[in-house]
Amino acid sequence: MINGKTKICGLIGNPVEHTLSPLIHNTLANELGLNFKYVPFLVEEKLQQAIEGAYALHILGLNVTVPYKSDVIPFTMELDELAEKIGAVNTLVRMDGGYKGYNTDITGLYRGMQAEGIEIKDASVLILGAGGAARAVAFLCAQKEAKEIIILNRTKEKAAKIAEEINCSYGKEIATSLLLDEHFLLEDKRYLAIQATSVGLSPHETEAPIYEKEFYKKINMAYDLIYRPTNTKFMQLVKEQGGKAYHGLTMLLYQGIEAFELWNGCKLPDECIRTVYKKMKEEMQIDE
Ligand code: ATR
Repeated sequence: MINGKTKICGLIGNPVEHTLSPLIHNTLANELGLNFKYVPFLVEEKLQQAIEGAYALHILGLNVTVPYKSDVIPFTMELDELAEKIGAVNTLVRMDGGYKGYNTDITGLYRGMQAEGIEIKDASVLILGAGGAARAVAFLCAQKEAKEIIILNRTKEKAAKIAEEINCSYGKEIATSLLLDEHFLLEDKRYLAIQATSVGLSPHETEAPIYEKEFYKKINMAYDLIYRPTNTKFMQLVKEQGGKAYHGLTMLLYQGIEAFELWNGCKLPDECIRTVYKKMKEEMQIDE
């Protein structure tokens, strides 16, 4: 029932047709019996006006997707510390006078990893990739006190730049870089690997950023940011050498959970989270 008390949140981006976010948030609202609705808003231009308009209309919060995650920053009133470091915002929360920007993609990744039993603190972490996603993952690992962070990328300079930014930002030599092809230089120990390249994404399901078995023997735990497919070639290679590997659908789930919790000032029960996850998998026709 929509009435004068209905709280509205939404998504701004371009395109917004294929988003799973309405399913996540409207399911949560139903489960909790909240008078809350979530709507996708296509924003083709005039981003500033869209945000000012949303504020004027008393919209409680917005998710922000491609291509506005960085562009939105100047129009926030305040920024969460990690979102500021990463330089990307995917969630706006209404405050007195404007919106505060957060990055729940990355806090959601952390919660998704925790839900799978993966611990970053004190881990030796390998990050595959050095694009926007990998950079955010690197900051998360530094913030959560990984023991060391090694960024492997096809283009060395991009990995080196992120490592330098991390070391500068946290004031310690915690991050280093390698070419993907230099993986044989890694020490012979057990790493947590986070796959943040676009390699293996549907329809290129047979591809992985590295193929050599020797590399996968050094991985005891892995998380692939990709969720389409849910068993990437990278994950298969990890599992073939005895490691555990998880796909990125929990990141998508928890970025929504974290945003919903920020907007509604609540902590969601596990039962509700399980219901949403089940619905997401049904919608995506994943049976596992
Ligand atoms: P996102 O914002 O999702 O991180 P991105 O910034 O385009 O996307 O980054 C894509 C990442 O996948 C990069 O690390 C890219 O490597 P380069 O920095 O060398 O371009 C990596 N990538 C894409 N295709 C690749 C391939 N065929 N082999 C290895 N790495 C690849």
